[in-house]
Amino acid sequence: MASTSGLPTYQRYVNGVPIPVGRKSLRMREKYIILLVFVTFGVVCFGAFFFLPDLRDKVNVSEMRRQIVRAGDDIFMPGDEAARKHGDVDVHRLEDKDRFENKVAGEWAQQKALDELKKREGLKDEDALKFQENIMEDKERIMKEKEIKEMEMKKIEDEKKREQIEKDHEGHPSHGGEPSDPDVREKRNKVKEMMTHAWKSYEAYSWGANELRPISKRGHSASIFGSTTLGATIIDAMDTLHIMGMMDEFKKARDWVATSFNFDGPAELSVFETNIRFIGGLLSAYALSGDKMLKDKAADIADKLLPAFKTATGIPHSMVNIKTGSSRNWGWASGGASILSEFGTMHLEFIYLANVTGNPIYAEKVYKIRDFVDKIEKPNGLYPNYLNPRTGKWGQHHVAIGALGDSFYEYLLKAWIQSGKTDHTARRMYDEAVQAIEANLVKTSPGGLTYVAEYKSGRLEHKMDHLGCFCGGMFALGAEGSPDPARYLKLGGEISHTCHEAYDRSDTKLGPEAFRFDGNTEAKSIRQNEKYYILRPEVVETHFYMWRLTKEQKYRDWAWEAVQALEKNCRTDGGYSGIRDVYQVNPQQDDVQQSFFLAETLKYLYLIFSEDDLMPIDKWVFNSEAHAFPVGASFSEKDSLNTNKERKR
Ligand SMILES: *[C@@H]1O[C@H](CO)[C@@H](O)[C@H](O)[C@H]1NC(C)=O
Repeated sequence: MASTSGLPTYQRYVNGVPIPVGRKSLRMREKYIILLVFVTFGVVCFGAFFFLPDLRDKVNVSEMRRQIVRAGDDIFMPGDEAARKHGDVDVHRLEDKDRFENKVAGEWAQQKALDELKKREGLKDEDALKFQENIMEDKERIMKEKEIKEMEMKKIEDEKKREQIEKDHEGHPSHGGEPSDPDVREKRNKVKEMMTHAWKSYEAYSWGANELRPISKRGHSASIFGSTTLGATIIDAMDTLHIMGMMDEFKKARDWVATSFNFDGPAELSVFETNIRFIGGLLSAYALSGDKMLKDKAADIADKLLPAFKTATGIPHSMVNIKTGSSRNWGWASGGASILSEFGTMHLEFIYLANVTGNPIYAEKVYKIRDFVDKIEKPNGLYPNYLNPRTGKWGQHHVAIGALGDSFYEYLLKAWIQSGKTDHTARRMYDEAVQAIEANLVKTSPGGLTYVAEYKSGRLEHKMDHLGCFCGGMFALGAEGSPDPARYLKLGGEISHTCHEAYDRSDTKLGPEAFRFDGNTEAKSIRQNEKYYILRPEVVETHFYMWRLTKEQKYRDWAWEAVQALEKNCRTDGGYSGIRDVYQVNPQQDDVQQSFFLAETLKYLYLIFSEDDLMPIDKWVFNSEAHAFPVGASFSEKDSLNTNKERKR
């Protein structure tokens, strides 16, 4: 900067205050001198404060007295003499001072005790020392014994607590439900016997493996479990065992999780399957038993899935490598898109997990997904099955209530229920989605069967997946709180009827993987690769909700037909197997006992033949794998955002 006088103008800064120097008036110079005096004074004061460190926090009469008492006689010794007596400590050095004081205090106390001992017992020096040593040893031994005893007591107490928690659940709401009608009781016992057979077989032939091959009697693992052995059947079955009151089996499963369940291997896993089966299974078992170990395990697994959410939109990838944290999507999914039914089926588990751990991160992740899909435009109000997590754009316009779409809709409704009906965003999104489905996809066949068609590249496909049969229960469950409760309860009943027809029109009385409504075909499969049945639950799931909500006997009858068909076609002496063609009288078996048969199919069947006070549906909400979370144990979006803000601040 050029100065008008030709002299450089510059400024000096004292304590950040600019002090102009140069051709300035006398008044300026006086100000400068006064400031200098103040600054000097400040430095002196600061220095005085700085050089009196000992007094900073010790100027306190009682503390001083304590120190004098501690030091005893030595306080009157000159420093170097004391140092000689007490070893090479320099009492003027700060760190030595404490050491010195402790030593003095300790030795002084010891000497005093020894003197007293000598006087009291009339002992000589050496004997007194020995005597004292013995006392010290005894003391140590007693302390150790006390510690061990305390640990044992704690163990016993923990065990008692666990038993108490289990007792608290006895009868209500997670055991019991014993029907008074002897016929119903017998049917319920039959379902429990099926569970025992499935479980015992798994235990005998494939304990620790993901699933059982019931015919070859060995372990099995599907691709959804990656290359790892994670005891999927154990974790999926735990809450069913608990609900059926099979507590010895539950305890064995629980102990396996505590000691042998290992989620550390290098493996690429499906985020969705890991969430609904493992996190869902552990959290449900935790909710029923109160065993905190199960909750901790669930949180560990969830933490391993979190890297999959690191995308531009927050929509998670399908697959995550739990060792490296890298994640990706399937190549076949509309050019690397994420799948609606996968990223839309995280909500219940992650919200409950946020609730029981108090960690908002899980809630943030799932609210972000929901807000994202809520805001973007939807063709005809329908949600396509594919969404690119990088661009945030929908992929192929393929809409289905069956595979790839199904549980997204289910979780909107159940998020509302889980929140104690306070999550109005979830309810609104559900109502809007269902209205779009009704307007575009719900059809009635010439024979009068109601079904939900699929929408594929601009045209309707008149096909329903076995997976899609769950939606009857969903419509019925969502009736209350909807714009037209009677209509949705009726729609639920109609889907239940259609899916029962799909079972009834086969030779095995079990339904195919997918069935069609084309020309003369009604509720039957025409393609060979759609005729299999793999112990799936969705049809009995819908019967369960219809039974609970209407109490019409036909739903129990249909459930019992399914039990008999399972016994006839799927039971082997080594467990239960899927079948390759439901339209054959003696179908070939596929030699796989799916873990969801224990988690879902048998659970819903058992509940159909139980009283309503067992797992009442206004107290429990079932995830997509039939794992149950308590209604009300939620985590609001507001809380997740507030905590997030606080954390960032
Ligand atoms: C968890 O749910 C319970 C109700 O079951 C509620 O009282 C509690 O506040 C929730 N915790 C959090 C952190 O939101």
